[in-house]
Amino acid sequence: MKNTVVIGAQWGDEGKAKITDLLAQKADLIIRYQGGCNAGHTVVANGNTYKFHLIPSGILYGNNTCFIGAGTVIHPESFEKEMNELKSQGVDFKNLKISPLATITMPYHIEVDGWSEANSGKGKIGTTKRGIGPTYTDKMARVAFKIQDLYSYEALNEKIDMILPIKNKTLEKVYGIEPYTKDCIISLCEKYAELFRPYVAFDWQDMLNRHKDKTVLFEGAQGVMLDIDYGTYPFVTSSNPIGGGAAVGSGYGPTMIQEVVGVSKAYVTRVGEGPFVSELTDEVGKKIQDIGHEYGVTTGRPRRCGWFDSVIMKYAVLVGGITKVALTKIDVFDTFDEIKICVAYKDCRNDKVYTSYPTDVFIHKYLEPVYETMPGWKTDLSGIRNYADLPENAKKYIAKVEDLIGAPIGIISVGPDREQTIFVGDAL
Ligand code: GDP
Ligand code: IMO
Ligand code: MG
Repeated sequence: MKNTVVIGAQWGDEGKAKITDLLAQKADLIIRYQGGCNAGHTVVANGNTYKFHLIPSGILYGNNTCFIGAGTVIHPESFEKEMNELKSQGVDFKNLKISPLATITMPYHIEVDGWSEANSGKGKIGTTKRGIGPTYTDKMARVAFKIQDLYSYEALNEKIDMILPIKNKTLEKVYGIEPYTKDCIISLCEKYAELFRPYVAFDWQDMLNRHKDKTVLFEGAQGVMLDIDYGTYPFVTSSNPIGGGAAVGSGYGPTMIQEVVGVSKAYVTRVGEGPFVSELTDEVGKKIQDIGHEYGVTTGRPRRCGWFDSVIMKYAVLVGGITKVALTKIDVFDTFDEIKICVAYKDCRNDKVYTSYPTDVFIHKYLEPVYETMPGWKTDLSGIRNYADLPENAKKYIAKVEDLIGAPIGIISVGPDREQTIFVGDAL
């Protein structure tokens, strides 16, 4: 397998973890490169369902190295909870490594996220309330704690003295949150140091050098349309889920990347606020939600559902650097008489038609989807393992999607299980 990045091509929850787990069989090193425990990743294998948030979804094989990279943010309490849950399912963490450069989500980041969501009225993002935005804000403002600070008495002391006065002033004056004492931060950091100690890769440079001639899989979280630079800003997350994010957050540069697999559902879902042109608020949307079990892994919130949107998918292929597509959840349409595909947007104010994605999201309320309708296949796809065995109408649907988005479909997923997968064309 080439060195491959797996990214979400829509608004998250496309089934990235299933694809990461599948490709991880052939990888020596798997790197989660951005985001934090806002992600909720599901892998179904060997009769078990595993839920990941920050720990790389490739860890189930036990014979590869799984690295949580510098571009991630780590909330220690959530990390501990995730590990304990996975440990109770028999998952082994002997090959887990954490970058000393990853950023720590402190308790006040969670408080600020909750406060902002409760107080921003129309500007509410509908975040996962996992402190993601406030942690990345502090990282960019250069007032964040890194994992490596936990192991240096000097760094920790100096940093607390630099950070705490300004942090406390903002917490108190802006958010009405109780200030933190230096002792409180030190005792939290002592606890975090113990928690992370077995996993911190102080030798990460050697580790990455050792893997330069091996196979590396980069695991993205969220999706292109939630990207801080290219997504539906401001209704986005605070990191770069696009393929290029892997070159920043992993410790390897772009020359290590040979393939970018964009994972896309056969329809679209979105959790939280923000525009969604092909959203279905009728019984068809409800049917997709019910059959697809579209409820968030992290927050349990129902996911908004809509028809496949080739306008955003073409955009994702471009800005995500996608070279191959994994089309998931096609089985959700098994009982549908007909299936629609959004091929363009029409501005209802002036009938202007967009076939390229308009990045000004404040006009999206005026956009209506333009659909093409395909006949359904009315066949259970969940047991099919070869492309040739797919019903003709399913093949036509896949060919239509491929034609519209301008990228080859290399994987078709017909169910949540690792086994329920069809590989097409050149091997990944
Ligand atoms: P991720 O965040 O992109 O990893 O995706 P999630 O785990 O949040 O959501 C995807 C959901 O769809 C999970 O419950 C998966 O088990 C499930 N899933 C993945 N692929 C398929 C598929 O092809 N068909 C069906 N029916 N479910 C799938
Ligand atoms: P995975 O990796 C779907 C959404 C939130 C909200 C916005 C900002 O499972 O695909 P944040 O907490 O990141 O500040 O929230 O981003 N969001 C996700 N939606 N899947 C995810 O992750 C998401 N992570 C964040 O719902 O709209
Ligand atoms: Mg998810």
